[in-house]
Amino acid sequence: MKIALASDHGGFLLKEKIKEYLLENGYRCEDFGTGSEESVDYPDFALSAAEAVAKGDCDLGIICCGTGIGVGIVANKVPGIRAANCHDTFSARMSREHNNANILTLGQRVIGFGLACHIVQEFLQAKYSGGRHDRRLAKITEIEEKYCGRKESGR
Ligand code: RB5
Repeated sequence: MKIALASDHGGFLLKEKIKEYLLENGYRCEDFGTGSEESVDYPDFALSAAEAVAKGDCDLGIICCGTGIGVGIVANKVPGIRAANCHDTFSARMSREHNNANILTLGQRVIGFGLACHIVQEFLQAKYSGGRHDRRLAKITEIEEKYCGRKESGR
């Protein structure tokens, strides 16, 4: 499984920690930056990772900023992206099982590295349940098509 990673300066250290965790656990990663704690604008980095997931170049994404909120707002503007800001393991699992989330967003200023890695593990190991949730996701796609035009990917 290949994971798109990105962060701004506020999530840089957490992104690096998650990258280490993913590589140690046999995942492949593509890192879309940023590369240091120097101040940058989170939309630039969140967009690159979200586009890689939307196009299917990466299977799932993990994007970090100070809170996980800004990068989540950006990612959710990309057609086909369902980004979830989760700071507990239950939400991370549910975001995959019920919402088929394809991006997890995390806040370095909100949680510690240990919990973040547990959340990442739950997110990556959970599977979409399908069934009744398909109908609800189809409605989300309809909203996306109404406001964003034709959806470009099948995700
Ligand atoms: C950067 O200071 C901070 O605003 C950013 O990392 C993020 O938390 C925005 O949502």
